Amino acid sequence: MDAIRLPGLVDVHVHLREPGYEHKETLRTGTQAALAGGITTVLEMPNTSPPTATLDLLRNKTQRAATSVVCDVGFFLGATRDTDPLATAAAAPHACGLKIYVSETFGSLRLDDLAQLMAFFRAWPGPGPIAVHAEGLTLATCLALAQLYGQRLHVCHVSRRSEIELIRRAKQHGAAVTCEVTPHHLWLCEDDLPRLATRGQMKPPLASAADRAALWAHLDVIDCFATDHAPHSLAEKNSPQSPPGVPGLETMLPLLLTAVYEGRLTLDDIIARLHTNPTRIFHLPISASTWVDVDPHAVYDVPDRGFQTLCDWSPFSGFTVHGAVRQVALRNQIVFADGAVRAAPGCGRVLANL
Ligand code: NCD
Ligand code: ZN
Repeated sequence: MDAIRLPGLVDVHVHLREPGYEHKETLRTGTQAALAGGITTVLEMPNTSPPTATLDLLRNKTQRAATSVVCDVGFFLGATRDTDPLATAAAAPHACGLKIYVSETFGSLRLDDLAQLMAFFRAWPGPGPIAVHAEGLTLATCLALAQLYGQRLHVCHVSRRSEIELIRRAKQHGAAVTCEVTPHHLWLCEDDLPRLATRGQMKPPLASAADRAALWAHLDVIDCFATDHAPHSLAEKNSPQSPPGVPGLETMLPLLLTAVYEGRLTLDDIIARLHTNPTRIFHLPISASTWVDVDPHAVYDVPDRGFQTLCDWSPFSGFTVHGAVRQVALRNQIVFADGAVRAAPGCGRVLANL
């Protein structure tokens, strides 16, 4: 059968590692991986080195991206212990949102002081939402702060039954909250840890099979699918001190198409969570001449190596998937075809308005 044409797809949670960790990923290799995975816009997280905490650092990232990215990119600002929330607020118009790490994470961005959290929730002017890494009890804290300060809250990588149930409850009460779930929390669980060994280290950690089932059961509460593409080199991942995080840009869409093949999702479910909802939540531009062609009948096994991502491994190696990315166009220009990236560095647009 013929290929199916999808609109431009957005991954709202990606780590591109530049500046500071270019041995893990760069703006160029990470956006190449996005195209190979059928993603045309990525929203990049601020935990680089230095972190994207000020207007100057945002400008620096934007300048690097202008000559290197091959898909469209928006940048999150990050809240840190050392930044004045008012300075963060001044940079807000140029960012897709503010990321606050309230739970343990890779890097030094964790905020666990209530007064500081309150200051950021008070000062953030939008228009992007506050995106939080908040697991367990800290999720309840963030939901309360968002309500009290009138903020839109986006909850990153929800992984447990209690968390998705709490978000359902908050939505029922009219809270301005949205959330995302990763493919690794939908497809993997702690039963995969013996196979993955240290490579299975990630934040939030792989949860129980019951937690995973609860995510599928509450699909209607999930606004976005997002990879939390968190590349670390294989040597780092195979070490006893494996940093947390797994790559995901090149496997998310094939896995989701596999769920369509299995009757667990519809194509409309995918379009809502990778296009319609992300563009609404993060105020992203839409271009009808940006599209992704997929072959829903292609069957293949996820390989061990040969990915576009610089880290070149996948927690899904060996999985049989039904659905392949055939062609990607960015504003009418074919940027990926026949398994190869055809985009010139810099052809992606930076959504920073600087
Ligand atoms: C992320 C990373 O490596 O930057 N790791 C992870 O396990 N998800 C950090 C994060 O998103 O918390
Ligand atoms: Zn992340």
